[in-house]
Amino acid sequence: MFTQTIVRTPSRTLAEGITSAPDLGKPDYEKALVQHNAYIDTLKACGVAVEVLAADERYPDACFVEDVAVCTPAFAMVTSPGAPTRMGEEEVITGVLKKYYNAIEHIQAPGTLEGGDVMMVGHHYYIGLSERTNRAGADQLIAALVKYGMTGSVVEMNEMLHLKTGLAYLEDNILLVAGEFTDKAEFKDFRRIEIPEAEGYAANCIRVNDHVIVPEGYPETRAKIEAAGLNVLTCDTSEFKKLDGGLSCLSLRF
Ligand code: GLY
Repeated sequence: MFTQTIVRTPSRTLAEGITSAPDLGKPDYEKALVQHNAYIDTLKACGVAVEVLAADERYPDACFVEDVAVCTPAFAMVTSPGAPTRMGEEEVITGVLKKYYNAIEHIQAPGTLEGGDVMMVGHHYYIGLSERTNRAGADQLIAALVKYGMTGSVVEMNEMLHLKTGLAYLEDNILLVAGEFTDKAEFKDFRRIEIPEAEGYAANCIRVNDHVIVPEGYPETRAKIEAAGLNVLTCDTSEFKKLDGGLSCLSLRF
């Protein structure tokens, strides 16, 4: 069960955020705020408290707060973002996490790690080696997990921005898989739900207690998740999609 989440309000500089999809256009700040508020309401509907951090105009991507920490049941790891324009976003999070955690660890240089590359499956954490997360960062997280009685393993990846761009663990051994992760050997024992290429963005869903939050506008994905017996809520994330951001990126959940 999650009881707490942390989100960060989008900044006015949002349109300057990193994107691999400029063809989708620039995000609209006002619309992003409306969508962000609806996202907060949806989290609350799942039974969690939401701490809302103020926008930080220095960092266009800072609303993707998942990337600056990994929150486990035993400790929080403050990360070291791999994108140069995102370095420093993590500074505020240590003080925030102190309210919730006695144990806080930090990824140290030359390690880099972004939370979007970390997928929790019970006490095991899969860590994607992406352009944002390097081997040193992954090894530091694995060492910390072991210290606190958990485990971690790395996942080689070549195409996607983050591990959770193409994977979402929905509990009960159910795993959404898309793109390069569809046939990965390390995920073969999961009950996999394949996300069709046309709905690839929707692989980034989040299970929050008794609900799965699914991006709005992906009917096949929604139908497959409902067919697995799960309750679905939807959120419109069109403005965040323009910056390669999805539902998981917008919150820390613990
Ligand atoms: N725009 C989100 C990211 O690239 O980190």
